[in-house]
Amino acid sequence: MILLDGKKIASEIRAELRDRIDALKAQGKRPPCLAVVIVGHNPASETYVANKIKACTEVGIEARKIAFEADITESALLAEVERLNADSTVDGFIVQLPLPDHISESAILSAIDYRKDVDGLTPENVGRTVQGLPSLVSATPKGIRELLSRYAIQTEGKHVVVIGRSNIVGKPMAMLMMQRPYLSLPGMSASSLGDATVTVCHSKTRDLAAICRTADIIIVAAGSPGLLTADMVKEGAAIIDVGINRIDDPSSLRGYKLVGDVDFEHVSKVAEYITPVPGGVGPMTIVSLLQNTLQAYNEHP
Ligand code: GUN
Repeated sequence: MILLDGKKIASEIRAELRDRIDALKAQGKRPPCLAVVIVGHNPASETYVANKIKACTEVGIEARKIAFEADITESALLAEVERLNADSTVDGFIVQLPLPDHISESAILSAIDYRKDVDGLTPENVGRTVQGLPSLVSATPKGIRELLSRYAIQTEGKHVVVIGRSNIVGKPMAMLMMQRPYLSLPGMSASSLGDATVTVCHSKTRDLAAICRTADIIIVAAGSPGLLTADMVKEGAAIIDVGINRIDDPSSLRGYKLVGDVDFEHVSKVAEYITPVPGGVGPMTIVSLLQNTLQAYNEHP
């Protein structure tokens, strides 16, 4: 079994990014700038945002955190999005999800200028990704593709099962895996894996286990701890665990531990490749955001 070490790969990519950004600065150019908008005090969101800002600082990207209380109105948040769209010192920005119930996520995401949409969540970027056009690709699927690529895990002709149909992970992941690589154009990631046969499963799927057993690669993004068990996995499969679930753990200092959607202990005995949680997909997601910020900076100076 080979552990897909997202932490290590992300650190290598950060070093590459740091070199590229140092070179820009050496030419007298300003560094790229990412703004992160957070609404309210969701503890998981606060951790993710802190990690994103730390990662920016590490590679020389200027990071601006813009925090609002949970009672901000939708129109005030839309006004902030418009302000960031117009701010020529900001190359890219994200609005951390989830948003409070009184704010429409799709209204906010649709208002983001797609050229600054470094989360790749606007309808424009999703549509461009579907058509194989240059786009800012959603961070988690992009990071997973990069992880597969750096471990030389081929996808051509493989059966990839994606569990989860979210706009952030499941849908764009399926698109990337089924993509014709030769449609990848300048501006897209250097890694252009695709050509897979993709099955997307979700909460209404019948006999998930039988479908998973036919998979060469399983990408689980269901938010359900321990969902993927060893009996659902073909010997030699590659397993990508996107789940980050907080489970009560009185023995830990924080009072909780993080577990994925995969029963790691047993699945790791059957799979050939597997991501740990934490340290697998999570660090790759953050590094993809940094790559997207540099891409936005280069494409729209
Ligand atoms: N919440 C959980 N993951 C993400 C992400 O990748 N982007 C944003 N904006 N919010 C999230």
